[in-house]
Amino acid sequence: MTVDYQSIGLVNSEDMFKKALRGKYAIPGYNFNNMEQLQAIIQACVETKAPVILQVSRGARAYANQTMLTYMAEGAVQMAHELGYDIPIVLHLDHGDSYDLCMSCIDTGFSSVMIDGSHLSFEDNIKLTKKVVDSAHKKNVSVEGELGVLAGIEDEVSAEKSNYTKPEEVEEFVAATGVDSLAISIGTSHGAYKFPPGVEPKLRFDILYEVEKRLPEFPIVLHGASSVLPEYVKIINDYGGDLKKARGVPEDQLRKAADSAVCKINIDTDGRLAMTAMVRKFLAENPDVFDPRGYLKAARAELIAMIKHKNINVLGNAGKA
Ligand code: G3H
Ligand code: 13P
Ligand code: ZN
Repeated sequence: MTVDYQSIGLVNSEDMFKKALRGKYAIPGYNFNNMEQLQAIIQACVETKAPVILQVSRGARAYANQTMLTYMAEGAVQMAHELGYDIPIVLHLDHGDSYDLCMSCIDTGFSSVMIDGSHLSFEDNIKLTKKVVDSAHKKNVSVEGELGVLAGIEDEVSAEKSNYTKPEEVEEFVAATGVDSLAISIGTSHGAYKFPPGVEPKLRFDILYEVEKRLPEFPIVLHGASSVLPEYVKIINDYGGDLKKARGVPEDQLRKAADSAVCKINIDTDGRLAMTAMVRKFLAENPDVFDPRGYLKAARAELIAMIKHKNINVLGNAGKA
């Protein structure tokens, strides 16, 4: 099946990023891999009139099924319409690791792709990223590149320690590749354990501002930006989980980043925590329930509340659609 993103009602990120830069807010990149997460994202973003980037990792695409995903994205656009407000929606590949994967996503309706060559040498990163950009731009698909490596371990993304982005490399990278946005490493990391106990959770705003100076009016992306909300960690731990040392990026630092050239902020872990907290709590309090709708409804409701909070109080994209 080959599908153009325009035909299913999606948009690329160009216009969104222009407005976010001008308006000093950030568009959320919310990861999803199932129906309840997608319903929650759409419901919350329509209710807050917020533009949104739906993002899917390689693992998530394999989990959900690539054909199913195309229909889910089309369904998301239609759901927003039925809810009464046509918010702009981007479907984005998160951490694409090869040219072929990026092309396959573009062929199945993605309007934006990330090619993550951050683990390669500077030269090889440029080569791979440029190859993706050249093909993607022929179809008006946006491309996100990355310079610098985030620490943290995920199913599909792993790095032992972070290497901050070197500001002196960004101009050459952007000029040589033609990317539409650039993910940088300033101290965030993927997953629920971003800062060890005793270490102050602080982002390197000095690096961000230096990048901003060298790339005026250029969209910057922040990965690993979940706050690992303590209330969810507590519920998970209270109901049999074991996430004792989990810590994330404080929300005031994300708000400060959204004020700068950062116009996309990626959030996956917080959504996972919100759902898991509610599933654990619901099942513990309702031991007789075995209909998945019971616990998934509770999980979905919490995710809606969390996303609305992020849009309104942290990213500032609420009311911008
Ligand atoms: O940055 C990675 C995202 O959180 C996706 O994670 O590969 O486990 O789907 P995943
Ligand atoms: P978190 O693990 O902090 O939610 O980061 C998600 C991410 O960067 C997806 O690309
Ligand atoms: Zn990421």
